[in-house]
Amino acid sequence: MRQPALTSTASFQALADHAADAGKWQMRDLFGADPDRFKKMSVEGAGLFLDYSKNRLDGRTLELLVDLARTRGVERQRDAMFAGEKINLTEDRAVLHTALRAPFDAPALVVDGQDVGADVHDVLARVRRFSDAVRSGAWRGHTGKPITDVVNIGIGGSDLGPKMVCLALRQYSLPTLNLHFVSNVDGHDMDATLSQVDPETTLFIVASKTFTTSETMMNAQTARRWFLALAQPEALAKHFVAVSTNTEAIKKFGIDPANMFPFWDWVGGRYSVWSAIGLPIALAVGYGYFSDFLAGAHAMDQHFKSAPLDRNMPALLALVGFWNRQFLDCGSVSIAPYHQDLNRFPAYLQQLEMESNGKRVTRGGDPVDTPTCPAIWGECGTNGQHAYFQLLHQGTDVTPIDFIAALRPGHEFAQHHAALLANCFAQSEAFMRGKTTDEVRADLQAQGLAADEIERLAPHKTFPGNRPSNTILMEYLTPHSLGALVALYEHKTFVQGVLWDVNSFDQWGVELGKVLAKNIEAELTGDAQPAKHDSSTNGLIAMAKAAV
Ligand code: F6P
Repeated sequence: MRQPALTSTASFQALADHAADAGKWQMRDLFGADPDRFKKMSVEGAGLFLDYSKNRLDGRTLELLVDLARTRGVERQRDAMFAGEKINLTEDRAVLHTALRAPFDAPALVVDGQDVGADVHDVLARVRRFSDAVRSGAWRGHTGKPITDVVNIGIGGSDLGPKMVCLALRQYSLPTLNLHFVSNVDGHDMDATLSQVDPETTLFIVASKTFTTSETMMNAQTARRWFLALAQPEALAKHFVAVSTNTEAIKKFGIDPANMFPFWDWVGGRYSVWSAIGLPIALAVGYGYFSDFLAGAHAMDQHFKSAPLDRNMPALLALVGFWNRQFLDCGSVSIAPYHQDLNRFPAYLQQLEMESNGKRVTRGGDPVDTPTCPAIWGECGTNGQHAYFQLLHQGTDVTPIDFIAALRPGHEFAQHHAALLANCFAQSEAFMRGKTTDEVRADLQAQGLAADEIERLAPHKTFPGNRPSNTILMEYLTPHSLGALVALYEHKTFVQGVLWDVNSFDQWGVELGKVLAKNIEAELTGDAQPAKHDSSTNGLIAMAKAAV
């Protein structure tokens, strides 16, 4: 059903009218006026806690946002997604990453005549057997030595998820198995990895949903050649496995289908970490912790499915983000994990949110009449504080921030953890409160500065404050809490996609560059003179050819 344009809906108009007032609010005043604001504007679910009170909104704003979510059909579309309806309209596909983490005894779900749950649990059983065998040393390389290194070759969703999770769960990992990830077509990436590993003890996972992605194919061929320089072709079966939906292509590549871990077209690349694409995770932390990771995501699925919208963590995160984007004109969101092991989480969210909702037409093909996905970026705290937080505090743009932290550390340096959390909470307080010019003057007076010096410095030392942030807390960073965290952002992304009425599950925008790169690659490596392009592209190609 074609949705009416977002700005034409009564719910959006009501929000726009309300925003005219809300735009003048100061969060300091909102906190001053309501001592229960934190209690009212925080929510728990699946073991996570979200504090969204440090945003420029009040109870009425939330009512209006929830009303918009209802009228845009968030609940209806959520149920359609979980039920396996083909909500990815441009590719005519169901969207069932949630089925990848449903327990064995979940109600049966049949899509295109296939029992989804049975397929998922068959593959999980294979992931379990294989990861157990490699970890225990039962699976050996062709010369009889146990595997010491695993190299995952994939890109985008076939890299970012497993890499982010393996780093995040490093404390759960088998110390004798080193995980490496090669994604970039830049040969330096492969070179850096191959220089660290031994072909006799290395297992390559070629991970590609389509098994056509040019970077992954080139990297896989390079790894294969490197391996075959030192081993016979019969040895490949012990050292190369594939994760893909494309059996024919993996056979052509020379991987035995017995060593292929399949998944399905209803798993989007950026939603695939729960599928066999998570094989590196099972290898690193063991199948037990991998299934805890799935269980954490399932717990968030259950929360998303059952909690009313005004107590629903993913919906609230989405609605607050939508408010900041549409009505406070915030063009980017910064992700600040105050946990070093989450250092790839911002990169993971970049693909999740920007590839999903970086769209400009509705599902019906009409132009979206508001801005859509903000840019997502970030870095771990406290490092970011000493790099770009200056801009966040005093720059001309307002950038909302998601602070993410664990209440308890996975180490014994208690002082470090207190310092880390103090910084995290202090930053969100500073963004909210700011520091007025009068407060700056009072400080400088107390330091004994002369009046003209105070006036000269005061504008530079003033912080506008009133800058929005969310804080997401978990007790510890565990496989379960990490699973819940990732699923939280997946569902946030889904809800925002519904509000904007975009298809969050296709990615046509990456195609044009791929096609043009193929043409230019032929020009760079062949005799053809680059003449077909603009003068800039022609000139750059000519320089690269001259340098060969
Ligand atoms: O080019 C974008 C993309 O299609 C992503 O959506 C995907 O995660 C990535 O490439 C890798 O795709 P594949 O797993 O098919 O190699």
